Amino acid sequence: MSTLFEPCTLRGVTVPNRVWMPPMCQYSAAPEGPSTGAPGDWHFAHYAARAAGGTGLIVVEATAVSPEGRISPYDLGIWNDTQVEAFRRITRFLASQGTVPAIQLAHAGRKASTDRTWKGGAPVGPDGHGWQPVAPSPLAFDERHPVPDELTVEQIHEIVEQFRAAARRALAAGFEVAEIHGAHGYLINEFLSPYSNHRTDAYGGSYENRTRFALEVVDAVREEWPDDKPLFFRVSATDWLEEAGWTPDDTVRFASELPAHGIDLLDVSTGGNAPGVRIPTGPGYQVPFAARVRNETPMPVAAVGLITDAGQAAKILANGEADAVFLGRELLRNPSWALHAARELGGEVHIPDQYHRSA
Ligand code: FNR
Repeated sequence: MSTLFEPCTLRGVTVPNRVWMPPMCQYSAAPEGPSTGAPGDWHFAHYAARAAGGTGLIVVEATAVSPEGRISPYDLGIWNDTQVEAFRRITRFLASQGTVPAIQLAHAGRKASTDRTWKGGAPVGPDGHGWQPVAPSPLAFDERHPVPDELTVEQIHEIVEQFRAAARRALAAGFEVAEIHGAHGYLINEFLSPYSNHRTDAYGGSYENRTRFALEVVDAVREEWPDDKPLFFRVSATDWLEEAGWTPDDTVRFASELPAHGIDLLDVSTGGNAPGVRIPTGPGYQVPFAARVRNETPMPVAAVGLITDAGQAAKILANGEADAVFLGRELLRNPSWALHAARELGGEVHIPDQYHRSA
């Protein structure tokens, strides 16, 4: 049997298999009013389908720790109790299918306040429900984006506290795993990379200073997150800028430091911090970055990026390149990918009672 269908235990949580769904924004929450940022019918149907399809762990999309931390006005958020209540419906259903409910806690930094991707994703101002973005340094992401406000040290401390409060709420909402979004050019990634962080205070300059904000967020979240529940960190292993940005060597160094801060798994993505870089995409193109972390540090890893085929996924695990695989767009196309892969490779996944005649 393929290891794809072997359980995986992290702290006190056992994930039934290694077919996982990565966070994917749906841009489908209300942009204003009492249910701003709260998941609704679309979110429920979307996550429920992948749980019924046998997915072992689902990371609910980037969920903002504050209104200004949203990528778009239509993002999910977890800064109030109305949102917590709405998430409970999703976590309850996922748990009923044996799927581990996880949530990605995020702040979009200088890439905040944009329109939905299918509307072009351009920055929006107040008349499009938008706001002024913030960042480590007053550097616009590209010529379309506004110059963000440079965060003061006091504001940095406030955002750390927003992550802490978000973790507390995520726990109340029934999540078993929290993931800190440190990738794709959003706020934490902006601090990590010398390309987007030009600060000269304690939060910029040296590697130690650039990682300070990320580690403060990790420590705050870990203080709230119970000892028996795992905490993941999503990193962009490279900005694809060589020495001008965050590098794979930086990632390995960072990964070796994270276990002492209570991170249990590194979710290894790449890119997103610099526009126009050349990324050599192709099947499994980010897997080598995950494999390097797994081979050079004690940190468990999940691989992501153009993993679409059952044999390919099984091989990544068999080769020891990752402990689990995330399938993004393939799970959008096929919510029951895990059921199909189990048939193809001869493994077992949970099939809902209601579907027993399909087994
Ligand atoms: C994403 N991705 C993403 N990543 C992340 O860390 N947080 C997020 O909320 C989102 N949102 C998102 C929305 C949509 C519609 C897509 C397609 C992607 C990136 C995603 O998690 C994954 O890393 C990439 O899609 C690459 O994996 P696949 O799709 O090649 O399997």
